[in-house]
Amino acid sequence: MRIAVYPGSFDPITNGHVDVLRRAGAVFDRVIVAVLVNPRKATVDSADDRVETIRASIAEALAEDLDRIEVMAFDGLTVDLCRRIGARWLVRGLRAVADFEAELQMAHTNRKMAPDVDTVFFMTALEHAYLSSSLVREIARFGGDVAPLVPTAVLRRLAQTDDRAAPAAAPLPSED
Ligand code: PNS
Repeated sequence: MRIAVYPGSFDPITNGHVDVLRRAGAVFDRVIVAVLVNPRKATVDSADDRVETIRASIAEALAEDLDRIEVMAFDGLTVDLCRRIGARWLVRGLRAVADFEAELQMAHTNRKMAPDVDTVFFMTALEHAYLSSSLVREIARFGGDVAPLVPTAVLRRLAQTDDRAAPAAAPLPSED
């Protein structure tokens, strides 16, 4: 069985992440979305909330792959997680050249620590090439409309939190 881990902060998950996940789901038998719990990196949402939002996003956007995609929180080294769950691939998205150097460094370092785990990159679809979680957070914080950038589950989550409330002019899509 080909098991891959897709690690990240996902604070919040964006349509770019969903795009990478969809394509990884077409290649691997199981994809584990691994949400980093990092006490040294301040995240807006707790790991548990991020896991919940990602699960809801997958249910809404990738329903056909539900049985093959799992979501979990983790701390420590990503390669240790891979070994624990028997994953031989790490999935990362590459948006623009700007991502390349940091991703290359991470891939080589992970490979040094775990030669049996390979990193696989998916080029993010062009329409998401300049999308990032931090931009989404900033736009939402100042009342901008992030509906075109994130799954509906994220909009619901943003609307629940005071300082990032969804703009009144952009009502949430109905549950229908
Ligand atoms: O979404 P991000 O913040 O770009 O994801 C970064 C992530 C979680 C993939 C990276 O920070 C990571 O793997 N952290 C776990 C600790 C680890 O393994 N560090 C060594 C990386 S070479």
